[in-house]
Amino acid sequence: MHTLNTLAGISLEPYIDSLTMQIHHDKHHQAYVDNLNKAIEGFPELQNKEVWELLTNLESIPEEIRLKVRNNGGGHANHTFFWKLLTPEFDQTPLEKTNSLLISNFGDLETFKTKFKEAALSRFGSGWAWLVLTDENTLSISTTPNQDTPWMEKKDAILGLDVWEHAYYLKYQNRRADYVDAFWHVLNWKQVEENLQKARGYLGTK
Ligand SMILES: [Fe+2]
Repeated sequence: MHTLNTLAGISLEPYIDSLTMQIHHDKHHQAYVDNLNKAIEGFPELQNKEVWELLTNLESIPEEIRLKVRNNGGGHANHTFFWKLLTPEFDQTPLEKTNSLLISNFGDLETFKTKFKEAALSRFGSGWAWLVLTDENTLSISTTPNQDTPWMEKKDAILGLDVWEHAYYLKYQNRRADYVDAFWHVLNWKQVEENLQKARGYLGTK
C-alpha cells in the first residue's frame, strides 16, 4: 500500500500559498496514490514494490495497467520528491558539492537559474522541470510531460519543479514565470545536496 508523506504545519507563505499546498498535497497527490493502489490491486507481485521499482521497470508491468502505473506512480514519486525540496527556511544557498557542480556546468548560480526557468517555461501544458545527474556526473536540465519522471529512464533527478497549473494557478494564475521565481525562495538546497550524495552516478570525483 502506497501512502503520502505529511506536510502538516509547513507554511511557504507568501511564496506558495497555503491553500494551493493543501489542495496539491491532500487532493492531487492523494488521488495519484489512491489510483496507483487501485491499479495494482489485483497484482500481488507488484504490491510490495517501491514506486521507484515500478517506474524503473515499466516494461515489466502488465500492459493493461502500465499507463495507470506510469501516470499515477509517476505522480506519486514526483510529488514525494517535490515536497522534500520545499522548506520554510527561506533563501538557502547551494551547499558544497551542488555548488561546485553548478559552477562547473553552468558557470554560476544565476546562469543555472535562468536556464532552468527557460526550461520550466518551455514545457508546454503540464509537466515538470528537472536538474538531472548524468552518467558522466555532469548536471543536465530537462523537462518531462505529464507525470513522466527521470526515474523512468533510470536517471537521478536532484532537483525538480512541478509546473502543472495545479501547483500555482490560485496565486499566480497564468504567471508561471513568477511561480518559478518564487520557487528559489523556498528551495531546500540541503535536500538537493542530499539527493546529489545519494544519486547513483555521483562518484565524488567532480
Ligand atoms: Fe503537482
